[in-house]
Amino acid sequence: MKRTLLFLTCILFLGNAIVFAQSKASPADPKMKAFIDGLMKKMTIDEKIGQFNLPGAGDIVTGQSTSSDIGKKIKEGKVGAILNLKSAEKIRDVQKVAVEESRLKIPLLFGMDVIHGYQTTFPIPLALSCSWDMALIEKSARIAATEASADGICWTFSPMVDIARDPRWGRIAEGSGEDVYMGSQVARAMVKGYQGSDLSRNNTILSCVKHFAMYGAAEGGRDYNTTDMSRLRMYNEYLPPYKAAIDAGAGSVMTSFNEVDGIPASANKWLMTDLLRKQWGFNGFVVTDFTAINEMIEHGMGDLQTVSALGLKAGTDMDMVGEGYLTTLKKSLKEGKVTIAEIDRACRRILEAKYKLGLFDDPYRYCDLNRAKNEIGTDENMKAAREAATQTFVLLKNENQLLPLQAKGKIALIGPLADNLYNMAGMWSVAVDHNQSITVLQGLKNAIGNQAEILYAKGSNFVDDPQLDLNINNTIIPTIDSLRTPQQLRDEAVAIASKSDVIIAALGEAAEMSGECTSRTNIQIPENQRELLKALLATGKPVVLLLFTGRPLDLSWESKNIPAILNVWFGGTQTGNAIADVVFGKVNPSGKLTATFPQNIGQVPIYYNHKNTGRPINAGKGDWFTKFLSNYLDVSNDPLYPFGFGLSYSSFSYSDLKLDKQKLTSGGKLTVSVTLTNTGKVDGAEVAQLYIRDMVGSITRPVKELKGFQKVFLKAGESRTLNFTITPADLAFYNSDLQLKSEPGDFKVFVGTNSADTIESSFVLE
Ligand code: BGC
Repeated sequence: MKRTLLFLTCILFLGNAIVFAQSKASPADPKMKAFIDGLMKKMTIDEKIGQFNLPGAGDIVTGQSTSSDIGKKIKEGKVGAILNLKSAEKIRDVQKVAVEESRLKIPLLFGMDVIHGYQTTFPIPLALSCSWDMALIEKSARIAATEASADGICWTFSPMVDIARDPRWGRIAEGSGEDVYMGSQVARAMVKGYQGSDLSRNNTILSCVKHFAMYGAAEGGRDYNTTDMSRLRMYNEYLPPYKAAIDAGAGSVMTSFNEVDGIPASANKWLMTDLLRKQWGFNGFVVTDFTAINEMIEHGMGDLQTVSALGLKAGTDMDMVGEGYLTTLKKSLKEGKVTIAEIDRACRRILEAKYKLGLFDDPYRYCDLNRAKNEIGTDENMKAAREAATQTFVLLKNENQLLPLQAKGKIALIGPLADNLYNMAGMWSVAVDHNQSITVLQGLKNAIGNQAEILYAKGSNFVDDPQLDLNINNTIIPTIDSLRTPQQLRDEAVAIASKSDVIIAALGEAAEMSGECTSRTNIQIPENQRELLKALLATGKPVVLLLFTGRPLDLSWESKNIPAILNVWFGGTQTGNAIADVVFGKVNPSGKLTATFPQNIGQVPIYYNHKNTGRPINAGKGDWFTKFLSNYLDVSNDPLYPFGFGLSYSSFSYSDLKLDKQKLTSGGKLTVSVTLTNTGKVDGAEVAQLYIRDMVGSITRPVKELKGFQKVFLKAGESRTLNFTITPADLAFYNSDLQLKSEPGDFKVFVGTNSADTIESSFVLE
């Protein structure tokens, strides 16, 4: 019996060793190990468990941190980190309690949702991904880290890399859309931006990749809902961005709220240990999402003591807010429900993160009040945010080249988002100073000076239904106008619009209509805003729709009726200036969608890289419905705007698609070249996209898969040859045995301006 056990242990050990050898996990630093060994020898069980506790900032007020409830816990060694406490001064104050008044003087981690910038707020993540510019995305994270670290923060709960194919889910705004290749690129760029090359520098912060895993696949697009999917889909379509973040060195991982294979993520040992650590070689620590341990009671996994033990045993190290670990693990240890080894393991991982951040050397490393004064919200950072925002706007329609506008005559600016400070930055702007935000009205005025006259009217509420308004704004005051009725608002707007030469309508979602707990079953522009649009159109003046949104919307009506639509998402602090840059043509728009816009909600989930079915519709042949093929009776399968779509003030053509060989051998590489020409009258950038299709596989393969892109700036009339490289590794996928392999056979390759509009060729993988 003993022998068999030993044998099995050896096999397991060897198995792990092999996986580890393949992974990028660096061997533990011996100095760090010695330091933490020494420290842990001194720690009591309570102090070890204390490290697992991550409370919210709660009742902490500067100067009173010692007397607050959390202050007391810190002194007793019952806190490992603090969530969302803002300002270097407060953080210094609280850190002081930890390192001067607790027995072992272990510094705290200070974590915050630094999601798309800090005080200088960048566009929401979904928008940032539409720039298709990884250097820009990395820079946004670098600036966020510089500002956050100057204000005391050393840990961010970002990047959020959940693949989302369902625009009903409001958190689609927090990620990079529907594509696994794009998601992986962005994940890498963000982690590099936050953590830099040396985590112990005082301007780099620990990143936390979230929400592990598959949170974006919540059923029905309803937040926190169940997910259930095959391993094949997980490995090929949902997991790679998390892995990319881990491979880029992300120091922590956040569990997701949803269950995976019937077990909530926070207690899912397969996820947190077998996959994350053993297969991927992750060596940081895992934190739960907000009260996710406690929520397992509602999931039906047992009482607080049981679910806390399940979490720890699965490999989840830190407990956000719920204090399940703090209040039950000691009892579980006594009762043999968890082991001291499991407690030590989690404690060590958290201490290691503190060590890597340099907090044991200098616990005040991130609390330099001079940095806070000089490095936050600087002109240079604001300039970067403005430039970034211009790159994220997606021009969806531009009939008769209505845009760009000339700065002359009378311009009517109408809409609930036209002069609204609080709705520019977008969801999850924890550290923003709204007073620094530039509204559309302000931005247009800054740009045109006295060259043109701007006539402003609000035109409508976000929504007229008081209950919906309350649901949207539950943390802020209601937004429905108390002085004017909807009709009065509209009449005022129409009167102004009738006097103008052109109308800019700033409409769409309020900032808090996307983000956490903002699922929608109707993804159109709210009815009252559409009524406003109709009234504006009826004036006969040209209408430009500036669309604010945190998710793909159903724009079927707008796309038919409004001559120009510029999707501006939520552009961060510099929204207004960036909009003016694009509207008046100083910057030519080049953003491309990273999530499909459906024709209507019934098509959801809709994504470009779907499988084919045995009865595909005759795409491209003009028939959108054929009996007994895979389609709908009432609408074609086509999206309204496909993945990768976005117009420019210029136009681009693709020609001369060439492959340097017809056969790709294992170990070889293939070069795909294409001539891209700016055929328009203005200079501009184009994102050239490369897709492949594996024609025959041991499992079915998507009809198209993004495998490369290049964003290139071309002068009007300029042509350039672009080269893309394809290697067998790019063609690999997880097969039924979950082995990552490329399979010989026929492939198609497509290059073009979006996922639906491409030119193609083919090759063979030998
Ligand atoms: C969210 C996380 C966030 C955490 C801390 C949760 O509700 O799901 O994304 O990081 O709160 O604020």
